[in-house]
Amino acid sequence: MEYSEKVMDHFMNPRNVGEISDASGVGTVGNAKCGDIMKVYLKIENNIIEDAKFKTFGCGAAVATSSMATELVKGKTVQEALQVTNKAVMEALDGLPPVKVHCSCLAEEALHAALWDYAEKNGIVIEGLKKPV
Ligand code: FES
Ligand code: FES
Repeated sequence: MEYSEKVMDHFMNPRNVGEISDASGVGTVGNAKCGDIMKVYLKIENNIIEDAKFKTFGCGAAVATSSMATELVKGKTVQEALQVTNKAVMEALDGLPPVKVHCSCLAEEALHAALWDYAEKNGIVIEGLKKPV
């Protein structure tokens, strides 16, 4: 199995690991295929994602995609963050081995769940965001 240099870098030195105690939104999701779990914390002010952190109980590909996904959403508006799909994250990582593609879904799902939590807490509707299952 071949991992890109970027995947290895984000796995060995993951960015944004941890929690945000006063997070605006928190999302927790599980990967049905492997049972791994991911939690994403977002700090949102004036519709901008000021900070993003994550905790993952999962494989190296899940760690690398969460690291990259949290890096990509920081500084973006809530609407722009919706464009940070698992495909976009994988592209930013120069790809993942095919058997590891499902791991990248966790980051997108946890991000969306955190945005949903933020929207619910603030009584707003984020267009294009689906309720997490
Ligand atoms: Fe397998 Fe998303 S968990 S495709
Ligand atoms: Fe579970 Fe990758 S094997 S997230």
